[in-house]
Amino acid sequence: MKSQDYIAVFDSGVGGISVLRHLRKLLPKENFIYFGDCANAPYGSRTTQEVRALTLAATEKLLRQYPIKALVVACNTATSAAIRDLRAEYPNLIVIGIEPALKLAADTFPGGRIGVMATEVTLREEKFDALMHRFNNGCTVTKIPAPGLVELIEAGQAASVEAETLLRQILVPYAGKLDALVLGCTHYPFAAKAILRVLGEDVALLDGGEGTARQTRRLLREAALLNEDGGDLLLTASDHEENFAALAEQLLR
Ligand code: DGL
Repeated sequence: MKSQDYIAVFDSGVGGISVLRHLRKLLPKENFIYFGDCANAPYGSRTTQEVRALTLAATEKLLRQYPIKALVVACNTATSAAIRDLRAEYPNLIVIGIEPALKLAADTFPGGRIGVMATEVTLREEKFDALMHRFNNGCTVTKIPAPGLVELIEAGQAASVEAETLLRQILVPYAGKLDALVLGCTHYPFAAKAILRVLGEDVALLDGGEGTARQTRRLLREAALLNEDGGDLLLTASDHEENFAALAEQLLR
């Protein structure tokens, strides 16, 4: 592996672009390849086995096609279903996953009221319960699934009336009752404005994107694989690549 090799960033669709934004800010000289498996999105309402198989297949394809030194699984759903299998399958690859930022929330609001909005898979997996017990810090944690939101964001509708209507249905019962809302799906930061309109500006929205970027930098530095003279970005997808790239570029800004 060489420092010039790519950092691959993977998600079911455009969600991981919210992580890629942090990665590029922190690591501007790295070469990135982003892959959105939009032919199979959304992952969040599939079975765990399906998500695992799709994640492993996408990784295998990426590794076959490009020189890759690290894989960032910029998808909470794929991380909870497949991170262990990925590490077992590719012991020499640096693999970074993303988790709902519950530790950050519990550290920032000890004893606070924390909502975690995420996909069905993420919220039902063992990994999430383990996270909830490990970083509780006296907080009350409420799981909030948001079916339908990923589809709207994939359609470029994050700021639409439909998205706000859906968010009202999901979040109005929690208005005035949360100190922080963890955005436990990488798509959701793109709907942050509408979420705050529903919940009120004094709720802290937290996500794991920046922490994931820092962890990526830390692991590359430890492996002496940081790049000093790159900066390429390839945007690829399993379907409708042109539309995908246009939306991804818009969300990257
Ligand atoms: N963006 C993904 C996540 O972080 C999943 C979205 C989906 O495909 O359901 O969970």
